[in-house]
Amino acid sequence: MKKSPDQLRKEILRLTKEYSDAVHRSLSPEPQDFIPGQTTIPYASRVFDADEVGAAVGSSLDFWLTLGPEGEALENELSEFLGTKRCLLTNSGSSANLLAVTALTSHKLPAEKRLLPGDEIITVAAGFPTTVAPIIQNRAVPVFVDSDPLTLNARCDQLEAAYRPRKTKAVMMAHTLGNPFDLHAVTEFCNQHGLWLIEDNCDALGSEYSPPHGSPALTGSFGDMSTQSFYPAHHMTMGEGGCVNIPRDMRWKPLVESFRDWGRDCWCASGKDNTCGKRFGWQLGELPEGYDHKYIYSHLGYNLKPLDLQAAIGRAQLNKLPAFIRARRENWQYLRAALADLEGFFDFQLPTHAKIWNGKCGMRNEECPPSSTFSWDSSGASCDPSWFGFMLAVKPAAPFTRTELARRLDAAKIGNRPLFGGNLTRQPALARIKGEIPAAFRVIGDLPGADAIMNRALFIGVYPGLTRPMMDYMVETIRESVRTR
Ligand SMILES: Cc1ncc(COP(=O)(O)O)c(C=O)c1O
Repeated sequence: MKKSPDQLRKEILRLTKEYSDAVHRSLSPEPQDFIPGQTTIPYASRVFDADEVGAAVGSSLDFWLTLGPEGEALENELSEFLGTKRCLLTNSGSSANLLAVTALTSHKLPAEKRLLPGDEIITVAAGFPTTVAPIIQNRAVPVFVDSDPLTLNARCDQLEAAYRPRKTKAVMMAHTLGNPFDLHAVTEFCNQHGLWLIEDNCDALGSEYSPPHGSPALTGSFGDMSTQSFYPAHHMTMGEGGCVNIPRDMRWKPLVESFRDWGRDCWCASGKDNTCGKRFGWQLGELPEGYDHKYIYSHLGYNLKPLDLQAAIGRAQLNKLPAFIRARRENWQYLRAALADLEGFFDFQLPTHAKIWNGKCGMRNEECPPSSTFSWDSSGASCDPSWFGFMLAVKPAAPFTRTELARRLDAAKIGNRPLFGGNLTRQPALARIKGEIPAAFRVIGDLPGADAIMNRALFIGVYPGLTRPMMDYMVETIRESVRTR
């Protein structure tokens, strides 16, 4: 008897689960699967099971392809998770950064707030290149403040020196390796000078920040806009993907959406017509009256949308996100406690506003809340990072270098990375631009903190797929590197 489409779908999804369970066991690797020195321990990796594979197959069977029902659902679920008004999916975190900065150039913004060529955006020197590239791509000027080598975040005491009346329009920086930057200082600075704030939250999904006189909230919900990456190394994945979050002011939505979707003036969802009710009733630019609104372009835009299939995978990942965040925090604490006696050789990352790590007090985040794990500065602010990685900076007096340590870890098949591009102003792309156009960017001071991070720091993984035997081997290898010097 011929099977109905519904029966076929069920069968396909049942077989998909069977296949996935047999082939991908990445959510719960067995301890015997890990062979020290032979099994690679990546610095980050996707963690998934049959839910994600089933979601991808189900979406393929629907064959909607472009952003559609799964995308809409994920946008709603993400804004609910983050406590923001709206989320707009993109095909990467870099695209999200490009869109957030480009939205600042819209002619629809008040003239004095609009980002014009030659205007400045304050950012931080050590980090990922696509936090900064969109500033230059939009013909604006990044102004680099230094990074603190312990928090890896901006030195906020340099913000005033970076500010230029009428030239500075925004601050854009990342919560580095999941560590919230000083949102209290930065939001006060932005409010005082009437600047936009874009939080690059790509590495910090789930991080919490408690301002001195406010309630704790997730990073990504403080600025005018914020961004996420859903590349596999990140807290959750869609394969490739990202989003722009709009925490409060929905006037950003049509701007970000327009730049994301070819620059169009129309805001109909994919597959929909005449949402505005006057599809043939507009006269804009020098176009004839009644020209089809679907083909009217008010901005010079891009097409930076993901597929609906990616969103389906993202939804399955979002269900697991709270457990992922918990595991990242627990893994960070485990490594921190296990390496505590190596403080003579390494500087370990500190959450912003923390002064010292107070020592091992239990491995589970609930048993060991950040309030008791760290001593905090006198600002009244604190934070609970949803860590992206575990940073070790080799002390200048240590008898080995960061590169030597990186080689040892590499030989032991332990994934490690520098803090992305290090001091970005020293990267060939920016050094060349500076040579060609000296005013292309400005630097506050000599950036010794960013150089220290570039020369001394590396990070290893805390991603949820790590097991205790893997972390014990990571710790033992680091110990051996220290001992055998
Ligand atoms: C801080 C930061 N911003 C932006 C990005 C770019 O994200 P994507 O790889 O999705 O383009 C990354 C990538 O890891 C990042 O670390």
